[in-house]
Amino acid sequence: MASLTVRQLDEKLKKQLRLRAAKNGRSVEDEVRTILRSAAADTDTFVPAPNAKGKTERGAATDARRVLLIIGGGIAAYKSLDLIRRLRERGIAARVVMTDAAQKFITPLSASALAGEHPYIDLFDARSEFDVGHIRLAREPSIIIVAPATADLMAKMANGLADDLASAVLLATDKKILLAPAMNPNMWSNMATRRNRAQLEADDVVFVGPNAGEMAESGEAGVGRMAEPLEIVAAAEALLAGNSGVLAGVRVLVTSGPTHEPIDPVRYIANRSSGKQGHAIAEAAAKAGAKVTLVSGPVNVPDPRGVNIVKVEAARDMLAAVEAALPADVAVFAAAVADWRSASNSREKIKKTGKGTPELALVENPDILSTVAHRKTRRPKLVIGFAAETERVVEHARAKLARKGCDWILANDVSPETGIMGGDSNTIHLVTRDGVENWPPQSKNEVAAALIQRIAAAMGEKK
Ligand code: CTP
Repeated sequence: MASLTVRQLDEKLKKQLRLRAAKNGRSVEDEVRTILRSAAADTDTFVPAPNAKGKTERGAATDARRVLLIIGGGIAAYKSLDLIRRLRERGIAARVVMTDAAQKFITPLSASALAGEHPYIDLFDARSEFDVGHIRLAREPSIIIVAPATADLMAKMANGLADDLASAVLLATDKKILLAPAMNPNMWSNMATRRNRAQLEADDVVFVGPNAGEMAESGEAGVGRMAEPLEIVAAAEALLAGNSGVLAGVRVLVTSGPTHEPIDPVRYIANRSSGKQGHAIAEAAAKAGAKVTLVSGPVNVPDPRGVNIVKVEAARDMLAAVEAALPADVAVFAAAVADWRSASNSREKIKKTGKGTPELALVENPDILSTVAHRKTRRPKLVIGFAAETERVVEHARAKLARKGCDWILANDVSPETGIMGGDSNTIHLVTRDGVENWPPQSKNEVAAALIQRIAAAMGEKK
């Protein structure tokens, strides 16, 4: 606040100040000091969310569920209007700051209609500086949400710039900040934005999204869409609850990797699964605050951080480990479980006898996903399977969803030419009972992050 001197104010404000100072018999400097002191000591000025009767009463709600929503400039700003409504529906009071760029996309008037008070737009405007003050804007809310967070706002935050109201508030706050970035996919993947993101994550800023999908610009697709309002609300609720991740406290069970089905002590039946996707999901869930148990078949990828790992070899061991890990709130079955095992597991190495090739009789393995999804007790609220297909991907996935009784299937084409099996990227079709979402090609880490956001939003709705 010390940085704001009377000298820097525009003429109109100086005049207002002089009048006010004269009226109160103080010097202008003393008047500024008095205003700032009283602003800091004043009771709450937040407009609370509507009460049960849908009415808002200033000063009535004293709970800590209030956010400062900073709306940045971008086409996604229109979704922030819906976000205000969604927050208030959940009893979360929202005060709004809009950047200059945001006002090119939506008007302060539409934001004020939804928030119940006029948004704050100017670092040097009489109300934001003298009535509330950017320090107070920064201090009063329980958390700050920036949605849409543009590449420019992220860059300012990462570097501590404060040349407008939004960036000054972000620099002045000691509250948790939740960023919902939205930008062109090329801007999101640019090295500068990546550096800024890494810096902000190191500074404890929490991200929700961006999601993959069609951009507002026609013909553009990729990662850069702002998270949906309900996903942002779910992330905000987790932060308001004092937790640092969108899945804080949620118990997540993940299977990953192939299984090895022994034929004899030296030979086994296996498949090409690397475990990269399942491990990425387990790590992303843990990073989002979930309590994760990862049941993994034999893989060469490193153990993800922060998860409880149970290492198994064969499908039956995997089923036993999964059953032992229940109850869970969410279960993700990413393992490529061998469908069959050898009918006999020879204790001795099978030798060539010179009398032709040995018969290898197979028996079917238990279907772990189907077993858990059909459980009468301790069925996780959300059961998610994968479908590895080589043709008619979505059609097979739909049939699998029905047959296995799960809630979602992430279907992918694993034909050799896609390079998905063992590779680093994945192209997902999310099949639910409501329809199909086609995700663009993404890295397996990005698929994991997108899935975690979807799970968080779904768990928020199930509460
Ligand atoms: N799955 C499982 N246990 C099995 C087989 C599969 O838990 N014994 C799970 C996988 O982890 C995955 C889903 O079921 O989430 C689908 O796996 P997939 O191999 O695509 O399907 P299959 O059941 O093997 O069907 P099909 O071979 O007919 O394609």
